[in-house]
Amino acid sequence: MQRARRVIPGGVNSPVRAFHAVGGTPRFMASASGARLTDVDGIEYVDLVGSWGPMLLGHAHPEVVAAAQAAAARGTSFGTPSATEVELAEEIVERTPTEQVRLVSSGTEATMSAIRLARGFTGRDLVVKFAGCYHGHVDSLLASAGSGLATFGIPGTPGVPAAATEATLVLPYNDPVAVEKVFAEHGDRIACLVTEAAPGNMGVVPPEAGFNELLARTCREHGALFVSDEVMTGFRASREGMWGLDGKVEGWAPDLMTFGKVMGGGFPAAAFGGRADVMAMLSPEGPVYQAGTLSGNPVATAAGLTTLRLATEEVYDRVGHASDVVAAATTEALTRAGVPHVVQRVGTMFSVFFTDAEQVRDFDGAGAQDTRAYAAFFHAMLDAGVYLPPSAYEVWFTSAAHTEEDLDRIVSALPAAADAAAA
Ligand SMILES: Cc1ncc(COP(=O)(O)O)c(C=O)c1O
Repeated sequence: MQRARRVIPGGVNSPVRAFHAVGGTPRFMASASGARLTDVDGIEYVDLVGSWGPMLLGHAHPEVVAAAQAAAARGTSFGTPSATEVELAEEIVERTPTEQVRLVSSGTEATMSAIRLARGFTGRDLVVKFAGCYHGHVDSLLASAGSGLATFGIPGTPGVPAAATEATLVLPYNDPVAVEKVFAEHGDRIACLVTEAAPGNMGVVPPEAGFNELLARTCREHGALFVSDEVMTGFRASREGMWGLDGKVEGWAPDLMTFGKVMGGGFPAAAFGGRADVMAMLSPEGPVYQAGTLSGNPVATAAGLTTLRLATEEVYDRVGHASDVVAAATTEALTRAGVPHVVQRVGTMFSVFFTDAEQVRDFDGAGAQDTRAYAAFFHAMLDAGVYLPPSAYEVWFTSAAHTEEDLDRIVSALPAAADAAAA
């Protein structure tokens, strides 16, 4: 870590990896397989971070690794169209209400591009977002942006020009009245409303019944686009993401969606997509410019395509089962130790809030956590060989590779960790 700090700011290439919120020194991982991580000292951990979401099938899945190796051997980047990109795009279009998608390399790029496209399509500037939703480190979306910033106690960030956030209106989550009010006042200037399909970046905060439908309808009524960010929930909350759990059932679709994490199978691949008439505004068909040297990279797309093809209903059942077991055992241990908490869930995703509230509905609720209790809990679990997110504002990610033995190890570590949190 000292060597790392000399050449990399804070020693890490993404801030939340640095353990600032929980104290101590980050573990340097040397390898990963299934649900296990092994650090450079040879210590093994059962992983509940899953690289912050992508590892739905577990680490180093043999078929994903073989697909990536075979693709790399055929050439690591062509800078031309290739068949795997089309197959990955088809797979995404088949599982979601998107008609077309464009592949990019990170979730940040996906939301940044979707916002530009929404502004280009509508000819309007304003963007509405919710406090506690994170959409990547896009300038205009770094207002009240959830976990990474919350972990460090900063509401926004220097380096973002005032002009970039002046056009961003931030609302409390799960608040239909605030949504109706902002559209009543500014409706004809709003390009889009962007939301996490189900927020995971302030911990899991499920949209209340009908909330996403209200967002879709309100946008439609005012000629704004509804952008649903499924970078985290896509191909994770269910086979069809969060949309499969609400929009598909209720009969509505977002105008634009963003994806990342699972669809890259652990490689840098992400996408944005949606209505064909909106996507037609994108260069080279239309005037809205967007591009990328490594977009649709053959190694990343091969890994992503293989991951999605392997992600069958049976896989989601296994991921959901692992979440059931860990969530129930965590509640039991914390309750026995007298630690106030609440577990929240959407589809296969869940998180645990160390709070005495009965429910967390928004970012203010998420912020009312006892982060010191979480830090003590985190370190006790780490000492027992379980790798939890080093922040109280994160999803606990399970995978289809969590075996009963892995789950037993987590379950048996919980009582002592709950006692540490209580103390
Ligand atoms: C909902 C959501 N959108 C966008 C992003 C940004 O993705 P990336 O980290 O790949 O840039 C994230 C990352 O955590 C996310 O959770």
